[in-house]
Amino acid sequence: MENASLHARLHSTFLHTAEALAEAINSRDPYTGGHTRRVQKYSLLLADSLDLTAEEKQTLCLAATLHDIGKIGIDDNILKKGGKLTAEEKRVMNNHPRIGANILQYVDEMQEVVPGVLHHHEWFDGSGYPDGLAGEQIPLQARIIAIADAFDALTTDRPYRKATHTEEAIRVLELDAGNHFDPALLGIFSSLQINLVP
Ligand SMILES: [Fe+2]
Ligand SMILES: [Fe+2]
Repeated sequence: MENASLHARLHSTFLHTAEALAEAINSRDPYTGGHTRRVQKYSLLLADSLDLTAEEKQTLCLAATLHDIGKIGIDDNILKKGGKLTAEEKRVMNNHPRIGANILQYVDEMQEVVPGVLHHHEWFDGSGYPDGLAGEQIPLQARIIAIADAFDALTTDRPYRKATHTEEAIRVLELDAGNHFDPALLGIFSSLQINLVP
């Protein structure tokens, strides 16, 4: 009994440490503060409608939390740049999934989490990065995070535009069903009643 509760406490410390680390990176960019927590929440909401085991949900939760951890390796000039990135800056920025995956390789307990982090910018039609995976070649956790990530980007203020309302954000995502997003997953996400996290 005591062992079980110690294990639970250790596990929750582990989760919260991962969250704190991820949020520390997000807060370097004032516009993405809270992004980690929201992407985690939207990913788990979508997962609730899928047939995932408790373990798969836990892995998803960690991958969603740590998806942008690789931004720790991106220069402030690029990360904090308000406007559009140049082609070269974009190339650097697009390394963040690989940097994140490389960091997590060092932690044995994180091996299951790596695919979600590495592939969260793949597109369903194969035109994403870093590996140009398509359809179900893209790990499920990465397909889920891609939707949650894009939804949060649309529904929060950015330097160059104001936040979009939920229904409008869903409409915008649906324009990319099949090319950027897994259409089946997006269909489920659209049907959820999502309360925006402040
Ligand atoms: Fe990202
Ligand atoms: Fe993100």
